Amino acid sequence: MAKPSTGLSTFFFHKKRWLLLLLAMLSVSTAVAFIIRAAYDSSCDHRQHFNDVPGVGNRIQKTKDTQIGVTSSPLSFMKSKLVLLVSHELSLSGGPLLLMELAFLLRGVGAEVCWITNQKPSGTDEVIYNLENKMLDRGVQVFSAKGQEAINTALKADLVILNTAVAGKWLDAVLTKNVPKVLPKVLWWIHEMRGHYFKLDYVKHLPYVAGSMIDSHVTAEYWENRTQERLKIKMPKTYVVHLGNSKELMDVAEDNVAKRVLREHVRESLGVRNDDILFAAINSVSRGKGQDLFLKSFYESLLLIKEKKLQVPSIHAVIVGSDMSVQTKFETELRDFVAQKKIQHRVHFVNKTLTVAPYLAAIDVLVQNSQGRGECFGRITIEAMAFQLPVLGTSAGGTAEIVVNGSTGFLHPAGKEGVTPLATNIVKLATHVEKRLTMGKRGYERVKQMFLERHMADRIAAVLKDVLHAANARQ
Ligand SMILES: *[C@@H]1O[C@H](CO)[C@@H](O)[C@H](O)[C@H]1NC(C)=O
Ligand SMILES: *[C@@H]1O[C@H](CO)[C@@H](O)[C@H](O)[C@H]1NC(C)=O
Ligand SMILES: *[C@@H]1O[C@H](CO)[C@@H](O)[C@H](O)[C@H]1NC(C)=O
Repeated sequence: MAKPSTGLSTFFFHKKRWLLLLLAMLSVSTAVAFIIRAAYDSSCDHRQHFNDVPGVGNRIQKTKDTQIGVTSSPLSFMKSKLVLLVSHELSLSGGPLLLMELAFLLRGVGAEVCWITNQKPSGTDEVIYNLENKMLDRGVQVFSAKGQEAINTALKADLVILNTAVAGKWLDAVLTKNVPKVLPKVLWWIHEMRGHYFKLDYVKHLPYVAGSMIDSHVTAEYWENRTQERLKIKMPKTYVVHLGNSKELMDVAEDNVAKRVLREHVRESLGVRNDDILFAAINSVSRGKGQDLFLKSFYESLLLIKEKKLQVPSIHAVIVGSDMSVQTKFETELRDFVAQKKIQHRVHFVNKTLTVAPYLAAIDVLVQNSQGRGECFGRITIEAMAFQLPVLGTSAGGTAEIVVNGSTGFLHPAGKEGVTPLATNIVKLATHVEKRLTMGKRGYERVKQMFLERHMADRIAAVLKDVLHAANARQ
């Protein structure tokens, strides 16, 4: 017999099983292959995507299916249309998972959706197997990138969506003489902005496709410039489509009980007390993501606090996304810095994880310190804002289009000249509780206004309508 005192665990068991799943996933990383990441960390190099799942299982995915009303979706005009999705690879990284989200949105309105993966490792791969099954379960047809079926589908399709610049290689390799017939109905979704993607090999057909869709204004502008200057080719009609948060992530972000449980759990595991202030960088650890400069700023902020004798709670930093095996030299450099400055008790390293939601629930401020041209978009930024967190970000790339300086966070310059401004901003948010909370709330409001899955679907719908129209006119 259930006594009232067992209420909490009973409650979680019956109503919040996914929460338990989330907690379990913090320690059992093998579970991740079954989980689709709903978040997209749009680093500009898909090979370095940080794979994170705000972490919800099949159950939630299924509920979502039934929630999408065919009539209420902005994509409902895609009903019965045949869409071929061409993914450069299939993995738990940002690009492919974002394309899968689109596949499911299209399935939700009754479109016929086919999926091919251009680059697959030889042999069996558990992640690919699981992701393909997930798609098959939801009525997406999955077939080989190279066979006749791929060619026939491309010829028959109403729309072909190429995902990432690299996927361009598929056109010549597979379609050969049919390329010109297919180009007028190709929508090219681009998430990269590093130099080595500006290769004619990948993108020579770009001028002839129906349109390109890019995650931020600054990335679109960059492509416009680089294609013209370097490759002497012209971009097709280009649409900027900011991404949105998945329903799954919003469900966790808006569930105060879940957030509290996750917060306590994560803080306990890190040895951070409830009233300590926790600043986090959640990205794959690499120089491009600027964790080294973040730690320098963090150290400077500790000095500032000491020097000015400020009365603030104790502050901590956590770097989520470590992978010693990949960035050994850089990772070692970070740890050496921490040891040398004797701040080991304040800086925590967490391995790369597929579940970011628990960390977003546990922290007080997100630091998005991507360097150089910054993020193409940086989905972690809107995810953090959904959790009512202020963001301290570099004034670069997509971050500057998401964060409103002074309102939902503070922007600082990329590079060394950003170290002191970031330190000052850390101190500001540590000293002014009210400001921190207000900024978090404003960030959340901004997400509700423009960065939900619904908004992304609206934006994509407008693009698809236009592209279909253009494709029909050219055929
Ligand atoms: C694109 O080129 C223009 C003119 O040269 C320049 O002002 C702008 O900053 C460039 N934009 C990007 C994103 O590179
Ligand atoms: C983190 O990863 C390293 C290897 O890269 C491993 O040795 C260590 O045990 C991992 N830590 C946790 C908590 O899983
Ligand atoms: C952000 O706003 C602060 C004032 O709130 C200002 O000092 C700073 O220069 C601004 N940064 C950027 C990158 O606009």
